Amino acid sequence: MTLATAAQAAYIVAALLFILSLAGLSKHETARSGVASGISGMVIALAATVVLAADGSGTLAVILLAAAMAIGGAIGLWRARIVEMTAMPELIAILHSFVGLAAVMVGWNGFLEVEVGGTRLPGSLLGIHHAEVSIGVFIGALTFTGSVVAFLKLSARIDAKPMMLPGKNALNLAALAAFAVLTVVFVASPNLGILVALTVVALLLGWHLVASIGGGDMPVVVSMLNSYSGWAAAASGFLLDNNLLIVTGALVGSSGAYLSYVMCQAMNRSFISVIAGGFGIEAGPAGDRDYGEHREITAVDTAGLLKEAKSVVITPGYGMAVAQAQYPVAELTRRLRERGVEVRFGIHPVAGRLPGHMNVLLAEAKVPYDIVLEMDEINDDFATTSVVLVIGANDTVNPAAVEDPDSPIAGMPVLRVWEADNVVVFKRSMATGYAGVQNPLFFRHNTSMLFGDARQRVEEIVAAL
Ligand code: TAP
Repeated sequence: MTLATAAQAAYIVAALLFILSLAGLSKHETARSGVASGISGMVIALAATVVLAADGSGTLAVILLAAAMAIGGAIGLWRARIVEMTAMPELIAILHSFVGLAAVMVGWNGFLEVEVGGTRLPGSLLGIHHAEVSIGVFIGALTFTGSVVAFLKLSARIDAKPMMLPGKNALNLAALAAFAVLTVVFVASPNLGILVALTVVALLLGWHLVASIGGGDMPVVVSMLNSYSGWAAAASGFLLDNNLLIVTGALVGSSGAYLSYVMCQAMNRSFISVIAGGFGIEAGPAGDRDYGEHREITAVDTAGLLKEAKSVVITPGYGMAVAQAQYPVAELTRRLRERGVEVRFGIHPVAGRLPGHMNVLLAEAKVPYDIVLEMDEINDDFATTSVVLVIGANDTVNPAAVEDPDSPIAGMPVLRVWEADNVVVFKRSMATGYAGVQNPLFFRHNTSMLFGDARQRVEEIVAAL
């Protein structure tokens, strides 16, 4: 067996491990083994790639590859170690931008190898090769600028509001039409000028698509960019004639697209509207309505309320992640369960700042999986719940989404916490959440505000119990 055949066999094993990894990651109980499969698949894939390079291109290629891997690996390790859980989406966004940039470089390299380097391809394959270059560069460049804008928005370096250029949908359609025309011309008579034009159109389109999307829809955008980065990698796989890259890219591309679809359903957003850069979105009127007075409660009184409760539901949000309150929350849960109180968690699909954010934090603090329920599983039970603790959540428990058709988050399914006998909201002020919308829940007769850092307040309640 030649080394090349062995490498191809290793690629198949790696691809299977990636599929196992995705399957594992779909459940809490198997997530760890899913991560382990993913890591093993990547180690095998990298090793096979190094062997292939050594076999085909000699020592210098291996040295260059090892240097690139050492530098990339060191930067990746450093960033992953210091990143805050709350900054995860922006890290993911910037990592997607690298995939996009790599696909652009692979595409350009594919063009230069044939047109300048003189690599010979049979005539029948030449047209396909140029089409692959064009598509790879287009998806890559779009992913690159789109991800950079997502990174800038998520890290609050630029305004998260949607950019509303006049005729924005026409601009997007014109860019797509320009791509189609440029590709046809490029395949017929490949030249550098057209490739540059094609790259510029894609860079501008990526920028515009994501800039046109408002902050509230950013979670879907990040998973859409995840999907684009997969397709960009698959396009590179065709150019480099690398089967593993094609399989892995298709896995990332399709799972990212499916995740975006599921998230759009959870937020009642149109999938087409989000991928088309906020197509058809109209902002509702600014909400400076007067909702009346809010009531406040102390940690000690909250503990009193909990002692009397038969059933408690905790709905965590982004603030729990900021305060790192999951550990005292787990302790509170344990204490209440010891007293015979039924405690469950209600998790909104976009609570926090990344898919599964709350589940990860609660698992970290060893909250039992079986009491952590999805929004749809718990929503009908609020009406028979004694106390709901809203810990650092805001948009995901906002009744305006259901009751106010003019609200910018109208139609988004939310946790109907207000149906419970008592609601205690943990936050530091009356400030709005991520979507920048006022929350009428805070002014309801059965809601009390417990101001302060969520971790401190939960610890005080545990002490009072
Ligand atoms: P948000 O609506 O973002 O509200 C979080 C609340 O936590 C804020 O109102 C804040 O109020 C409070 N908070 C912050 N730090 C706190 C602390 N140390 N102690 C106590 N409270 C604190 O949260 P959510 O309900 O989880 O909703 C998520 C939002 O993010 C949605 O709009 C969603 O679309 C968006 N989003 C989600 C994702 C994904 S995939 N999950 C990704 C990007 C964006 P104070 O400032 O008054 O304390």
